[in-house]
Amino acid sequence: MERLAIEGGYPVRGGKIYYGRQWIGEDDIRAVEEVLRSDYITCGPKVDEFEQELARYTGAKYAVAVSNGTAALHCACLAAGIGPGDEVITTPLTFAASANCALYCGARPVFADVDPHTYNIDPASVRAHITNKTKAIVAVDFTGQAVRHEELRAICDEFGLVFIEDAAHAIATKYKGQQVGSLADLTCFSFHPVKTITGGEGGAVTTNDEALYRKLVLAHTHGITHDEAQMQDAPHEGPWCYEQISLGYNYRMTDFQAALLVSQLHKVEHFAARRKQIVSAYNKAFADMPELILQQEIPESDTCRHLYIIRLALDKLTCTRRQFFDAMSAENIQCQVHYVPVYWFPYYQALGYEKGLCPVAEEIYQGIMSIPLYPKMTDQDVEDTIHAVKKVVEAYRK
Ligand SMILES: Cc1ncc(COP(=O)(O)O)c(C=O)c1O
Repeated sequence: MERLAIEGGYPVRGGKIYYGRQWIGEDDIRAVEEVLRSDYITCGPKVDEFEQELARYTGAKYAVAVSNGTAALHCACLAAGIGPGDEVITTPLTFAASANCALYCGARPVFADVDPHTYNIDPASVRAHITNKTKAIVAVDFTGQAVRHEELRAICDEFGLVFIEDAAHAIATKYKGQQVGSLADLTCFSFHPVKTITGGEGGAVTTNDEALYRKLVLAHTHGITHDEAQMQDAPHEGPWCYEQISLGYNYRMTDFQAALLVSQLHKVEHFAARRKQIVSAYNKAFADMPELILQQEIPESDTCRHLYIIRLALDKLTCTRRQFFDAMSAENIQCQVHYVPVYWFPYYQALGYEKGLCPVAEEIYQGIMSIPLYPKMTDQDVEDTIHAVKKVVEAYRK
């Protein structure tokens, strides 16, 4: 048996690799440079171009580019008319923003439990949490796998709920052959550097509904319109006139972010193909290891994974998750954990949420860890990661 680096052995590799990172090429740099040399660095043509290209790519009628994924979720909630007294059902196994967006609007996030095999929100649990205050569902495509659209759509139709999809992880994923972004009432994307494409920061909301689109446009730019058809005091006095007709925010994307995103979007299928290759290599390497539980996929989802999660079968290992994590780190494979259940955070505890609300999600959380997955990984990086996982499992096998 190989001696673990954490116990004085040699690490599987020299330099550290991380669970995720961007891939910026010379073409991306040129695209940004061009904008920086142009007349518009914000509110210019590149933002329009990105919105059009994203709409085309996702198959949605409309796309609104915003400053980040959190802003996208906030705008989606505003467009959905979520307000004080409303409840919004979401998953605890997500980044805090998926729930915070309800709080921003004065609504209460309600946590439904997840499926024990896919880790995505369980439609049966969603149904069990519906009350007469429920206004919307924020369903997260966790790790990139599409949620159960058919079941969630049926629930939304039955109870008159708005279906918001948090697709921060899922830009290149399809559900039953249809691109994520064209399925829910409102789909939110994030373009943070660990995501499949990046603008440094960035986000977007897509929709097929014109009324929702108009609300999104207002929400992301102060509630201000220049459109005479929407103005109350039309005909206006002169071309300088605009009106604030609702309360919005400055969530605009800059043109240099948009230029980077147009350039990255052109490569999204290439990035997705490489991610899929790496996921296949991991699945194959770990398939026969009873110490690891692998995330399962529904056949409807053609998934571009943003994260690859291994779940430790802790009853088959002599270590804790923390010891496994530290041992991987010593091998120079820096993992991460996605996610601490949102309602465990002190802020949510102070709001009255108690541990134990979603036992399946909490159980999953105890054993999970995200190992490196990003398209720029070389075959050697992938091999090293597999080597490290196997080495650590072997050292701690019962
Ligand atoms: C599931 C999920 N939703 C929302 C967000 C928020 O996106 P951003 O960081 O772009 O604000 C993230 C980002 O990590 C996320 O993972």
